[in-house]
Amino acid sequence: MDNLLLLLFFFVWLSIQTLISKLVTKSSKSFKLPPGPNPLPILGNILELGNQPHKSLTKLSQIYGPIMTLKLGKLTTIVISSPQLAKEVLHKNDQNFCYRTVPDTVKAHDHHIYSVGWMQPLSQWRTLRKICATKVFSSQQLDSTQVVRRRKVKELMDFVKKTSETYDVLDISEAIFTTVLNSISNTLFSKDVVQLGCSSKSQEFKGIFCGITEEAGKPNVVDYFPIFRKIDPQGARARMTKYYKKMIDFLDGIVEERLRLTKGLEMVDTKEYKDVLDYVLEVMLEDNSQVTRIHVLHLLVDLFVAGIDTTASTIEWAMAELLYNSKELQKLKNELQEVLGKEEKQIEESHISKLPFLRAVVKETFRLHPPFPLIPHKSKEDVELCGFNVPKNAQVLINIWGVGRDPSIWRNPNEFIPERFLESKIDYQGNDCELIPFSAGRRMCPGLPLAYRGVHTVLGSLLHCYDWKLVNNGEKEKGLDMFDEKFGLSLHKAKPLQAIPIYSHNN
Ligand code: HEM
Repeated sequence: MDNLLLLLFFFVWLSIQTLISKLVTKSSKSFKLPPGPNPLPILGNILELGNQPHKSLTKLSQIYGPIMTLKLGKLTTIVISSPQLAKEVLHKNDQNFCYRTVPDTVKAHDHHIYSVGWMQPLSQWRTLRKICATKVFSSQQLDSTQVVRRRKVKELMDFVKKTSETYDVLDISEAIFTTVLNSISNTLFSKDVVQLGCSSKSQEFKGIFCGITEEAGKPNVVDYFPIFRKIDPQGARARMTKYYKKMIDFLDGIVEERLRLTKGLEMVDTKEYKDVLDYVLEVMLEDNSQVTRIHVLHLLVDLFVAGIDTTASTIEWAMAELLYNSKELQKLKNELQEVLGKEEKQIEESHISKLPFLRAVVKETFRLHPPFPLIPHKSKEDVELCGFNVPKNAQVLINIWGVGRDPSIWRNPNEFIPERFLESKIDYQGNDCELIPFSAGRRMCPGLPLAYRGVHTVLGSLLHCYDWKLVNNGEKEKGLDMFDEKFGLSLHKAKPLQAIPIYSHNN
């Protein structure tokens, strides 16, 4: 009897072992990660990122292919570098991939909990996206606040004119930044934040915005080894806490003032339109509203951080490319003259549809200099992609910088050739994954309509009435530092653009 029991036990044990081994073999077969460079023990592939991760990843993808795995410490990262695979991620499997891996720095001030840009795509996120679509960026709302943006471009033109009269050097980068900052702040809450020409204040704000995008995008050891979170060895979270505090305190002052106005405690509102803050506060004050004051503050932080730096740096890159490519510049000036006439005139938002070459210049700028070179998403579940398994919770980076410079998609990919878009139907509305500076799918940038208006009107106005003389011809020979980029969540020109404006009347 004892022997029989022993035999029975042996068979049960053998069957369990066989089953386990079958399961292990099966899961390791289906769990085939995309290829990638061999990881070092503990560090994985962190050292391969360098200080320009978008370039390092582009080079690696030329070796390992358009879907590639990197081990960044404990974080499995899948890098996507082709339009076909971007489409799989952002269109076909959007529901799984519209999550975010949240960098530790963004957790400062609990920003990730309240931020539309960083929260997971659940009910709160849907509410905030709906507010963006209906109250912030609808055509009707943007049309009604057009008057304030027109005023800001006019102020820029007056400022440039003054500079041209004294033949002074203009810090184009700063002038564009201040104009975009005030255009967006006026669209949101009808206030200027910085005076044009007030360099110290403008630099202070630029420091905060650039600081936030830099800290959110730069490799941080805490994201790869969460065990170091408490120590914050690079001091990144401490810096981010300071930046967010400054922004939140500033915006809280604006919200407080508007609430007092709404309650009749302050003088009467004199503006001729309802701005975004009016609408958002209406939603906040509704009974049982899901939107609290803290949501409003973090939404404003998001709109500022995501909107200003990206729009301003696109205009600056476009200007830099055009000053370097005089033939393209002349073509654009001719088009502007044909549509607007010879006299001094600023571009209205309604002119954009009549300026195909200007639109092509902007597309070409987005292709070469997408403000967000790597779009960070996360896989909610294990998903099969192109025969490989993308594991649950993996960070998924879409390398749109790499796609924009892929020689199998673009002829002479490193050259600035706006003409390539004149005949082509490729657009950046999220359908053509060859060009997705605003991304695609449900997480796609909600600010596209505002950015579209801002980029074209400011760029066109700066070029219509002025010729620009670069400060140092030697810089031109060196390529104007054209390819020097400063990496963060968004990419900037490493060296701000400076030139002397010469009033041309387009003669
Ligand atoms: C040239 C200008 C701009 C570019 C290239 C750009 C690009 C992007 C990209 C690539 C994303 C990430 C999408 C994704 O995760 O798939 C994004 C998100 C976002 N952008 Fe923009 N953006 C621009 C301007 C703006 C403006 C003007 C605003 C608002 C004033 C804005 C507000 C946002 C917000 C709130 C998000 C987060 C959306 C979410 O996660 O659900 N952006 N943008």
